[in-house]
Amino acid sequence: MKTESVKPASGKLGILIVGNGAVATTLMTGVMMVRKGLAKPIGSMTQYDRVRVGKGDEKRYLHYGEIVPLAHLDDIVFGCWDVYPQNSYQSAVYAQVLKKEDIDPVRKELEQIVPMEAAFDKNYAKRLDGTNVKDCKTRWDMVLALREDIKSFKVRTQCSRVVVLWAASTEIYVPVNENVHYHLSDLEAAMRADDREHIAPSMCYAYAALSEGCPFIMGAPNTTVDIPAMWELAEQMQMPIAGKDFKTGQTLVKSGFSPIIGEHCLGLSGWFSTNILGNRDGLVLDEPENFRTKEVSKLSTLETILKADDQPDLYSDYYHKVRINYYPPRNDNKESWDNIDIRGWMGYPMQIKINFLCRDSILAAPVCLDLCLLMDLAARAGRVGIQRFLSFFLKSPMHDYTQGEEAVNHLYQQHTMLKNAIREMGGFEPDEELD
Ligand SMILES: NC(=O)c1ccc[n+]([C@@H]2O[C@H](COP(=O)([O-])OP(=O)(O)OC[C@H]3O[C@@H](n4cnc5c(N)ncnc54)[C@H](O)[C@@H]3O)[C@@H](O)[C@H]2O)c1
Repeated sequence: MKTESVKPASGKLGILIVGNGAVATTLMTGVMMVRKGLAKPIGSMTQYDRVRVGKGDEKRYLHYGEIVPLAHLDDIVFGCWDVYPQNSYQSAVYAQVLKKEDIDPVRKELEQIVPMEAAFDKNYAKRLDGTNVKDCKTRWDMVLALREDIKSFKVRTQCSRVVVLWAASTEIYVPVNENVHYHLSDLEAAMRADDREHIAPSMCYAYAALSEGCPFIMGAPNTTVDIPAMWELAEQMQMPIAGKDFKTGQTLVKSGFSPIIGEHCLGLSGWFSTNILGNRDGLVLDEPENFRTKEVSKLSTLETILKADDQPDLYSDYYHKVRINYYPPRNDNKESWDNIDIRGWMGYPMQIKINFLCRDSILAAPVCLDLCLLMDLAARAGRVGIQRFLSFFLKSPMHDYTQGEEAVNHLYQQHTMLKNAIREMGGFEPDEELD
């Protein structure tokens, strides 16, 4: 048995969320309802999944919390930032994800969560026009103001630890620029010089969080912490980082379904994915520059699971297309269609159709909870930098692309990575035996 010492989860855990929208308020409301015994945390791995430890006669199946010291839901305190000033109760009602009867029992608690002013630049999300915005002259001023927010949240709530989670809108696409994003000194210089083209507001949140000793999770597909300069900062501050883009609906299906094709050596000619979505996230993604960020993230999944290099006969030249269409009547109830053109024996074509009528934020909330609890755990275990074991929860998992590393997108490989990290942090041997 190996030993990896993990500090206990003593005291309160602050979850500071960038964004007070559909995902954030569904998470908060759910946690509060579960604490009162009025709802079940369905879909959460940390609350339900069990991992086998030991082998043969010694084997036992334990919940994560029985293997490693996880924070309890009762110890979580929420805070947030948003461009709009409404408190989390108002915002939860506005989002129309949950029925009023599932929000009202925790109304008082939600009303107390009033968003701090956002570090915001309208050029990064043109469709938003809220007024609850910091008056900052430069990107560096944003960093300083956000650091103050985190400090005062810690004092106000008496939290012993804070995790910062980005559940705000997807920003416009910021391609990685070697001159700005590769070295921490260059990134800091660009922030001080107020380089608004290369420094997204989300980078200021991440920089502030890490500088204040808080793990940072990027839930949108934004570049933000997926750059070597932020890896350097995470290393310097000895903090874990995770991203990008919660894996919830269509991409979850894709990463779980495409292994059927790959493991069975069937050919693929094309995969067409389309969605309709009517919430504020859909509105922001209706802007082509914001959609571009999402598209890059969504497209990466198949390429690492069904690889032309490994199987040229089966996976050369397949056509992969992803579309998101803003359609207000459906609000948060996203509908996705996948048309998959496959090839069988002697190249004969077949088709598979998948129609998923999902609920975006209902799928995202447990992913957020798990990411926050596991990042807090990772920090207490002394894990630093990109947390690859959390790839299971992410559409476009971070990896060191400067060294030619590839992301792991295969859902079942990701699950093995997750279980092994839990085993290791609990002092057990990692393994790949079938359960
Ligand atoms: N729901 C899912 O299944 C899912 C999956 C993957 C990723 N995501 C991502 O999660 C994010 C949140 O989704 P949502 O449905 O809650 O969206 P939403 O529009 O309901 O909420 C986002 C909130 O972020 C706020 N915001 C934008 N920029 C900000 C800034 N700079 N600082 C502070 N607040 C800011 C907006 O005002 C808005 O209230 C989106 O980026 C979305 O792409 C969601």
